[in-house]
Amino acid sequence: PDTITVQELANRMAEKGADLVKALFKMGMPVTVNQTIDQDTAELLVTEFGHEIKRVSEADIDIRHDMDVDDPAKLQPRAPVVTIMGHVDHGKTSLLDALRGANVQAGEAGGITQHIGAYQVKTPDGSIVTFLDTPGHEAFTEMRARGANVTDVAILVVAADDGLKPQSIESINHAKAAGVPIIVAINKIDKEGANPQRVRERLLEHEIIVEAMGGEVQDVEVSALKKTNLDKLLDAIALQAEIMELKANPDRNAEGTVVEAKLDKGRGPVATILVRRGTLRVGDIFVCGAESGRVRALVNDQGQQVKEAGPSMPVEVLGLGGVPMAGDTLVVVDNEARAREVAAYRQEQALKKRTAQAPVSLEGMFSALA
Ligand code: GTP
Ligand code: MG
Repeated sequence: PDTITVQELANRMAEKGADLVKALFKMGMPVTVNQTIDQDTAELLVTEFGHEIKRVSEADIDIRHDMDVDDPAKLQPRAPVVTIMGHVDHGKTSLLDALRGANVQAGEAGGITQHIGAYQVKTPDGSIVTFLDTPGHEAFTEMRARGANVTDVAILVVAADDGLKPQSIESINHAKAAGVPIIVAINKIDKEGANPQRVRERLLEHEIIVEAMGGEVQDVEVSALKKTNLDKLLDAIALQAEIMELKANPDRNAEGTVVEAKLDKGRGPVATILVRRGTLRVGDIFVCGAESGRVRALVNDQGQQVKEAGPSMPVEVLGLGGVPMAGDTLVVVDNEARAREVAAYRQEQALKKRTAQAPVSLEGMFSALA
């Protein structure tokens, strides 16, 4: 918490560790560079060396990144990030699997050896689409509530034989609230009793006017089971992405969002990161939520190790100090001291929040009143 090793302090002051040790010795404190000193001693040293004391604040950390706007000249087109939403059993998972299967069949890689919560698919015109394989709108809401809305386009899956259902409508509302454009995938058109036109009509009641009804929302009739019109769906996404002119600067320290994270038995803490801007590289030092680390390895959606990941690319990151939470931001920083400082600060903040939210027992309340 409020301690720092002599070496870390020296790094931050851009002084030699040995010089600090010498000064400490004179102050009557025989320590080595790897030993920790308390905050008061650190402050004393800092002033002694004629430096300014600068405490880290959350504002310092976050504003730094929010305010550092990328030079428009450096922006490059990036892949759209797509989330699939819809009512239970309408075929979200089947559709994702079919799209992913199409990708593997296209000879992209030997096969999926490992499932990560996000993956990329190539469209017929050669562009790339990133899909977030989240369990529908719950994750979407959770991420959005945490200010981590990573979705560019929402695909609303509606089963043509079942029509609009409560969760379809919820999905529409979530996408609208997030300001995310919707593409409607009318699924299960192979089924007897499928009535795509009925779906289009019902959508009107929720102000979703598809192209066939004279509106601007794209709709595609698909069958995840028979793999019908998957190309058309990918085309629709590519078209929507083109209109949005999605861009990011790949040439900077990376920033990304945690899509999911877990403690892996063999590999330790692992997070699936969706890179938002910059390029994440093996060896990069980072802060991720309240954890810090150094990228030990990056694994892509095909289970292959890669050296780097640019904007809109999902990768598994190894080398975290602990398990972050979905929605947390990963930010690459310049040095380890900075990473640890920010992580420690955030851990402290999180702890404070938890303590503040701890339920007060009746006993405690009475004694407080007494
Ligand atoms: P939850 O994750 O439980 O919300 O469901 P889901 O929306 O992911 O649906 P899922 O993909 O699990 O599909 C539900 C059922 O519908 C499964 O039995 C699928 O085989 C079937 N199904 C999905 N797509 C199609 C389709 O295009 N045609 C037909 N006939 N069946 C389909
Ligand atoms: Mg599912």
